[in-house]
Amino acid sequence: MVAETDDLPVAGYLCLKQVLDEAEILDVAVDSRARGRGIGRALVLWAASFCREHAVCVLALEVRVGNVEAISLYEGMGFREVGRRRKYYENGDDAILMDLNIGETEECDAV
Ligand SMILES: CC(C)(COP(=O)(O)OP(=O)(O)OC[C@H]1O[C@@H](n2cnc3c(N)ncnc32)[C@H](O)[C@@H]1OP(=O)(O)O)[C@@H](O)C(=O)NCCC(=O)NCCS
Repeated sequence: MVAETDDLPVAGYLCLKQVLDEAEILDVAVDSRARGRGIGRALVLWAASFCREHAVCVLALEVRVGNVEAISLYEGMGFREVGRRRKYYENGDDAILMDLNIGETEECDAV
């Protein structure tokens, strides 16, 4: 999904992967000139909406520890930390694993 603004043809983007009833945000980024205007939240809201429409139960992602902007965005939308990959990044930073339970369908209740 690509977010456009009047001045930027690609103000931000989000890559989403779905496998059966699980989905993962592979990448999300907003052009530095367009940050702080709600575009990041709109992109993640789109992903959650896509999951609801496609019977996805859990939306997952990983984020670098210390990425306060992204972690604040995700926590504000209901994502919760479910684990960590120690020293995942080249510089030794951990990756935080986060999930958002979509869980509004009967199939999800059974998981
Ligand atoms: C993370 C990112 C996508 C946020 O995009 P954005 O369009 O600026 O975010 P929004 O304007 O929609 O803000 C939504 C929330 O994000 C958080 N946030 C955004 N900018 C922030 C900042 N500078 N400091 C702290 N929190 C911030 C806040 O919780 C904000 O909610 P609020 O406005 O109610 O406080 C953007 O900073 C970015 O592209 N970062 C670099 C790429 C990256 O790290 N991607 C995440 C990979 S896991």
